[in-house]
Formats: sequence, C-alpha cells, structure tokens
Amino acid sequence: MDRHRVLRWTGALGVAAVAAVALGSGLSAPVAAQATYEIEPRAPEYLYERTCGYCHGHNVAPIIRGRKLPAAVTSALVRSGNGAMPAFKPTEITDQELEALAQWLATAEADPEEHGR
Ligand code: HEC
Repeated sequence: MDRHRVLRWTGALGVAAVAAVALGSGLSAPVAAQATYEIEPRAPEYLYERTCGYCHGHNVAPIIRGRKLPAAVTSALVRSGNGAMPAFKPTEITDQELEALAQWLATAEADPEEHGR
C-alpha cells in the first residue's frame, strides 16, 4: 500500500476515534463524523518511479522514456500486460492516474542513468 493512502487511512481512523470518544462521554453528537476515504491521484513521475521504473530502466524491460510512445499504446498495455509485463488493474492505478502517466511518458525525456533490457 502506498504511503499517501496509509496516512489518509490513519487520518480517517483518527476522526472515527474522536467521534467514538465524544459519543462515549455522553456529549450529544447530532451527526456522527463520517470516515471518508478519498484517493488523491499520484503524480506520473511518482508512479513511474515506484511502479514502472522497477523494471523499465533497470535491465528488466525496454527503456520507455524518451521514446515518445503514443499514450494510447501505453494505456492499453498497462491494462492488458504483455508477456513478462504485468497487467495493472484500476484498483492499482486508476484510470485518471494512467491517463496522466501515459501522457507524461509520451513526452518524458530519456534518463541517461537508465539501462534497458
Ligand atoms: C515486472 C516488470 C515490469 C513492470 C513493473 C512494468 N513493466 Fe512494462 N514491460 C515489461 C516488459 C518485460 C516489457 C516487454 C514485453 C515484451 O515485449 O515482451 C514491457 C513493455 C512495456 C511497454 C512497451 C515497450 C516497447 O518497447 O514495446 C510499455 C509502454 C510499458 N511496458 C509500460 C509500462 C508502464 C507504464 C509501467 C508502469 C505502470 C510498466 N510498464 C511496468 C516489464 C514491466
């Protein structure tokens, strides 16, 4: 699980705990605090580094930065997978995140530190 999400969960649980204490102490709580769970989209660079760059750029998979790969190709491939390339579900990378990631990759500069397969 991603650190941002863990922090958000902790925040939500904190709100729930405060609400539980308020209720337990007999204070009237007309509206129980609702624990909400919003997912903030993660930035393309962050996703690339954490999820894709693990293989791409580290000898496992072809270099994909600096190649101007069409966004539609990247998006389709990330959902379907291909051979040793795993498929990623919308619960792992949301549609919104994937669109931004694919757009970013289409124009991202090559990184001379990366090594292809
Ligand atoms: C577990 C390793 C792994 C991870 C993680 C991974 N890939 Fe891949 N990817 C591969 C491999 C291996 C291939 C080559 C597949 C083939 O052609 O047989 C590939 C191919 C691709 C290609 C096509 C490249 C080409 O030259 O045809 C794209 C685009 C791509 N991956 C994007 C991504 C993106 C975006 C992510 C992150 C969301 C990602 N990959 C995560 C292993 C990985």
